[in-house]
Amino acid sequence: MTFNIRGLAVAGAVVAIGCPAFAQTEIKIGYALAPDSHYGVAAKKFEEVLLAESGDQFTVTHFPSSGLGGEREVIEGLQIGTIEATIVSSGTLANFVPDTGVFDIPFLFSGLDHARSVLDGPIGQEILAEFDNVGLHGLAWGEQGFRHITNNRNPIHTPADVAGLKIRTMENPVHLAAFDAMGAAPTPMAWPEVVSSLQQGVIDGQENPLSVIVSVKLNEVQKYLTISGHVYSPAVLLVSKPFWEGLDDSQKAAMEKAATEAVVAMRGYVDDVETSGVETLKERGMEVNALSSEEKAAFQTSIKSAYEGYYETYGQELVDSIVSFK
Ligand code: PAF
Repeated sequence: MTFNIRGLAVAGAVVAIGCPAFAQTEIKIGYALAPDSHYGVAAKKFEEVLLAESGDQFTVTHFPSSGLGGEREVIEGLQIGTIEATIVSSGTLANFVPDTGVFDIPFLFSGLDHARSVLDGPIGQEILAEFDNVGLHGLAWGEQGFRHITNNRNPIHTPADVAGLKIRTMENPVHLAAFDAMGAAPTPMAWPEVVSSLQQGVIDGQENPLSVIVSVKLNEVQKYLTISGHVYSPAVLLVSKPFWEGLDDSQKAAMEKAATEAVVAMRGYVDDVETSGVETLKERGMEVNALSSEEKAAFQTSIKSAYEGYYETYGQELVDSIVSFK
């Protein structure tokens, strides 16, 4: 009896030390890639900083590797409030906030610094605020890096090399228009189906940044990698608007700080993989070529007709102001 009472007292003390005396709010965060990817690293940093800043008012449960479904389904989950947070690419974003599509225009940004300064500057922040109109709240822009083409058919040097290539694109009209104009056979597909479709030969290739190609080990299902850098790939840290509106000011400030640091971690990962990724993929057996500036220019010329559509949709003034942004 004495033993039992002492045991209960010890157990009670452990519970008291181990758990805060207030109810914690659970944040389910879903993302398409593994815990050791740029998304996983950013989500972990988000959790660490949020818990430290809020005094453990939250718990964060991670659902990596599309554990909550494709990116479109996850965003819809945020809108109805069944999922609290996500890190997503711009793949399906234009279906929710059409203006985000402007960042998906190929050959728009000259490098990572240019893209980051546009996204962190007035143009990026104005578009980020538009998520509030559609049941979402944008915390910060992150990124994946520049997208490159992988395939199993042939090395790519000219637009003729992509003619008829069954290439998976994101469900993104801006990307689709570009690959159509190049003469490829673009196939929009949600990410969770991509690896098996490559394995089964349903598609010949896909395009993604080195951050994805390396972390997903696409070398296991793809032979050729062409460093085309044809388009920058933004990502965004989103929370559910119903969830956001239930937070007090200090909790919102903690989230904002956590998001800022998560983006620093994500960009750091991208910087590293942009430096080491090609060597890693060569070591894993991929045949790699980088487009020369003349070869790149030929791809730019091949999508002139798509550019006319982009100007019509987003306005040439906005596109030009992004291109010339310093
Ligand atoms: O290609 C995509 O759909 C995206 O880049 C991915 C891999 C899901 C990461 O957001």
